[in-house]
Amino acid sequence: MWSNLPLFPTQASTQAGQVDALYFFLVAVTAFFSLLIAALIVFFSIRYRHERHPVPHQIEGSTALELTWTLIPLGIAMVIFVWGAAVYFYQTRPPRGAMEIYAIGKQWMWKFQHVEGQREINQLHVPVGRDVKMVMTSQDVIHSFFVPAFRVKADVLPGRYTQTWFRATTPGRYHLFCTEYCGTQHSGMIGEVVVMEPAAYEAWLAGGSGEGSLASNGQKLFQELGCATCHRSDTQGRGPNLVGVFGKQVLLEDGRTVGADETYVRESILNPAAKIVSGFKPIMPTFEGQVSEEGLVALVAYIKTLKSAPQGAQQQNEPARPVAPTNTPGK
Ligand code: CUA
Repeated sequence: MWSNLPLFPTQASTQAGQVDALYFFLVAVTAFFSLLIAALIVFFSIRYRHERHPVPHQIEGSTALELTWTLIPLGIAMVIFVWGAAVYFYQTRPPRGAMEIYAIGKQWMWKFQHVEGQREINQLHVPVGRDVKMVMTSQDVIHSFFVPAFRVKADVLPGRYTQTWFRATTPGRYHLFCTEYCGTQHSGMIGEVVVMEPAAYEAWLAGGSGEGSLASNGQKLFQELGCATCHRSDTQGRGPNLVGVFGKQVLLEDGRTVGADETYVRESILNPAAKIVSGFKPIMPTFEGQVSEEGLVALVAYIKTLKSAPQGAQQQNEPARPVAPTNTPGK
């Protein structure tokens, strides 16, 4: 109905309608009370003007009136709160099984990495009708990923991964902005999201660089940096066995438990002493300065693939023996 209003970008994702509905509700509530109050000001000014009421009448208070003007706004505020929270939770919780795309912001461009190996700059190709989870980080300062047609906006921070997700509903090309002031070329840090039919998307993916998947690049790095010598797939390694670690809870030497997410993996590579896994010694050197953000993303993607069933060349024929109560391979 309202989507033809030129003030609003097109609605091209599943959350766009939800955000707009809430927004129109806020506008309607605001407009209603603004008009009501303005009208009452005019009405009371005339009705109780000085000539008719030279001596004001003292009112000592009215419980009924006070309850009314307290409970009605409370009710309206609660509707806004619950509704807003519902939309917020929908937006901030990527559905299970969403496909992942990695984004790296830097002054002043967007770099995207598809799990299949495709890389692109200032252009993001996604299929229509599929949940896409963005795993984002920054190489320098704070940026913010904003696609108005999707009503998706999320800060992109150095030193950690943030997430957002969307499901595009209409093929087309949509603006992508950086919406956090990040330096002189901030306004030029723009791009486009290209939403394609699934078949066209597959074809686009297949016409890729031939560099191999993100995880296989990560696996290569894992070997080159020597990670594999300590993080062995058996219990003999000097570092924890990484098979099955991602997405699980990890018990630390100091008794804390942390969730093994992207940020945990990244920190463990750059600042290994920050979180020592229970039963291991803080002997791992830092890889700060030795791995680019792209490399880190590839390593994270690789470690994700070690999720349950071991795969990859370095496992060879020797079955992994999980240390922790992870899944037994082959089960
Ligand atoms: Cu990046 Cu503004």
